[in-house]
Amino acid sequence: MSLNLSGRHFLKLLDFTTEEIEYLLQLSADFKALKRTGTPHRYLEGKNIVLLFEKTSTRTRCAFEVGAMDLGMGVTYLDPGSSQMGKKESIEDTARVLGRMYDGIEYRGSDQEIFEELAEKAGVPVWNGLTNEFHPTQALADILTMREEFGDTKGMKLTYLGKEQGNVSDSLLVICAKLGINFCSCGPKGDAEGATHFDPEVLAECQRIAAENGCTIQLTEDIDEGVRDADVIYTDVWVGMGQSEDLWKSRIELLSPYRVTPEVMAKANPGAIFMHCLPSFHDTNTTIGAEIAEKFGVTEMEVSDEVFESKQSRVFQEAENRMHTIKAVMYATLK
Ligand code: CP
Repeated sequence: MSLNLSGRHFLKLLDFTTEEIEYLLQLSADFKALKRTGTPHRYLEGKNIVLLFEKTSTRTRCAFEVGAMDLGMGVTYLDPGSSQMGKKESIEDTARVLGRMYDGIEYRGSDQEIFEELAEKAGVPVWNGLTNEFHPTQALADILTMREEFGDTKGMKLTYLGKEQGNVSDSLLVICAKLGINFCSCGPKGDAEGATHFDPEVLAECQRIAAENGCTIQLTEDIDEGVRDADVIYTDVWVGMGQSEDLWKSRIELLSPYRVTPEVMAKANPGAIFMHCLPSFHDTNTTIGAEIAEKFGVTEMEVSDEVFESKQSRVFQEAENRMHTIKAVMYATLK
């Protein structure tokens, strides 16, 4: 299968057809095989890309950098501390300048709407490295990981434990609907500190797509119901990037029942795997983890250390797959 995505932005998965997503996943698997066999694939030699990060990153930044270098491209990394971006120059103006110098722009920022405006002005493909609303390259890597484990993913069930709305859960909702994977969001209904629910328009659109593709979207507070028949148990941090530190107390109270523990894993399908986009608070070996332990007496948050380190955990394979999938996105849109 070869589709022409040349010149396209990669802003959110709703912009792509099922066939286009399948194409990107196949391309990702092909690039992974090339990397594994040490086969050079400098297909984009002579091109240059720039990475704009308004927020911190390990996986996304490194995946773009290594992916681009493997493809033979030059890479520039810019953060707000080392450029005019955001302080003296708007993101839109920055994009218009950079679009004249680079062949592609990665952006990690906050508001999806601002990001989409930026893409309109850039004049070159722009890739979403995470916004408040979506994290589409993460979802691609997640499905590649599922496919490596199970082969065909159609009709499987992925359960996301935690609060409903978040850039990772939003993107999983979309990609599951597009690929015929049953998606379950299992978490509390209310959150006094702010909205936790899927955008009603995104949810309605995904329900329509899921119906077309013969899969379901389940929203439940009940853990037994949520994890029953699940092939993948997925979770994410309880306070996302850029959110207030003040949220920790209420989130710990609200979400602790939804921590992924061996007991939760035991309720899923035999052979179920655990996934997490990372970084994860599964112990106290981080500054925040240690602070939370001191303040609230909680030594593991969204996932227990036992599950994180278990044979069911695929988190590092998933992290590696960020690079192969991001490489596929860059290649498909720049070739
Ligand atoms: N999962 C993810 O996006 O990781 P980084 O924040 O380290 O890029």
